[in-house]
Amino acid sequence: SGYVTLDIGYKNTGATKSAITFLDGEQGILKYRGYPIEQLAERSTFIEVAYLLIYGELPTQQQLADFEYKISRHTLVHEDMKKFFDGFPSKSHPMGQLSSLIGALAAFNPQSLKQGLTAEEVNEEIIKLIAKMSTIVSWIYKKSLGHPVVYPQNKHDYVTNFLYMTFGERTEEYKVEPVVVDAMNKLLILHADHEQNCSTSTVRIVGSSDANLYASISAGISALWGPLHGGANQAVIEMLERIKEDGGDTDKWIAKAKDKNDPFRLMGFGHRVYKNFDPRAKIIKKACDDILEQLGINDEVLDIAKKLEEHALKDPYFVERKLYPNVDFYSGIIYRALGFPTEMFTVLFALGRLPGWIAQWKEMKENHEPIGRPRQIYVGHENRDYQDIASR
Ligand code: CMC
Repeated sequence: SGYVTLDIGYKNTGATKSAITFLDGEQGILKYRGYPIEQLAERSTFIEVAYLLIYGELPTQQQLADFEYKISRHTLVHEDMKKFFDGFPSKSHPMGQLSSLIGALAAFNPQSLKQGLTAEEVNEEIIKLIAKMSTIVSWIYKKSLGHPVVYPQNKHDYVTNFLYMTFGERTEEYKVEPVVVDAMNKLLILHADHEQNCSTSTVRIVGSSDANLYASISAGISALWGPLHGGANQAVIEMLERIKEDGGDTDKWIAKAKDKNDPFRLMGFGHRVYKNFDPRAKIIKKACDDILEQLGINDEVLDIAKKLEEHALKDPYFVERKLYPNVDFYSGIIYRALGFPTEMFTVLFALGRLPGWIAQWKEMKENHEPIGRPRQIYVGHENRDYQDIASR
């Protein structure tokens, strides 16, 4: 069967050529389409970054206005989807709901299953998906409270509309605080793409079989769910809460993380590619301080997080292995300050990652990449003869 290179976990295998995101893990550099993440997080908006990732250039004012307008026309989700959504138990995990609902969008958009869609037809599905994702995420949040969903108001921009549907009530006027809109934009921008990570590779590989956009993204959401990937943001807060309840002794927990007989890992620490500070973590740490101050929130968990970071960064175990805080270490503390329950954190990551997944899926299609199909080195039995069940 020819020569096969073994690289379990694809630690060193480039699976594609991509012009979307540049990442230098040794130096801690991240750029989208050549623009440094620091500039985008500081000055751009989520929807502008989505445009940049998907279409390759920053939009002109007119292009941005058209993009926002088209998205706003698709924010309603079919009422029959609502019936399907109502069937989920109210305590079911938001990520399971999200991947199912996004997969189900294919059933409500059968035109997306057609082979050989034109670029315009593909674009139509992309716009719909971006629009409906924010509505669906807000539904999931409302369900967790047992509250009725709030329908979109298209006079708002994308992020404001999302916050309105999430935190607004049907009965009273909801005022979206600018500090919350800014924080949300920043977090979504920082999560918007990260080259060939687990969920993005999943999206590309599922899409490479010519599966439709919704199915590909739904698979990416499932990949993101795991605590070693996007699920880490939920796991970080749960860990910090446990440390708090346990008396706040961070050194004891660092010792646990170092103990090879203990499966516990310091959640929000370490990264496959960054062997230096995750540039997103730097921005989020600062944003976390700023936002909590502006909202007048004093969260003990933030103090524990800072102490944990400080101690871990001095510990030879973490130094030798180049383990630094990653994007998920501080993001949950901000989400919490904005009012999101812990189980929603990974869903918010997915909302942010959506434009990256779409851009990567679109690039894979435009490059006419072949179906993704890794090889293996077989290590099983050679020849065995079938034995009748009675004689086994
Ligand atoms: N706590 C304790 N030890 C760790 C940690 C950690 N968080 N991360 C890595 N190590 C150790 C690991 O035990 C190994 O030690 P040794 O060489 O003695 O066997 C060494 O560091 C290298 O780790 P690895 O597991 O081989 O590295 P990987 O590239 O396969 O895994 C990772 C990367 C992110 C899965 C891992 O660092 C981890 O599990 N971190 C905690 C979960 C987390 O925060 N995930 C979010 C990642 S960033 C956002 C995202 O991707 O969604």
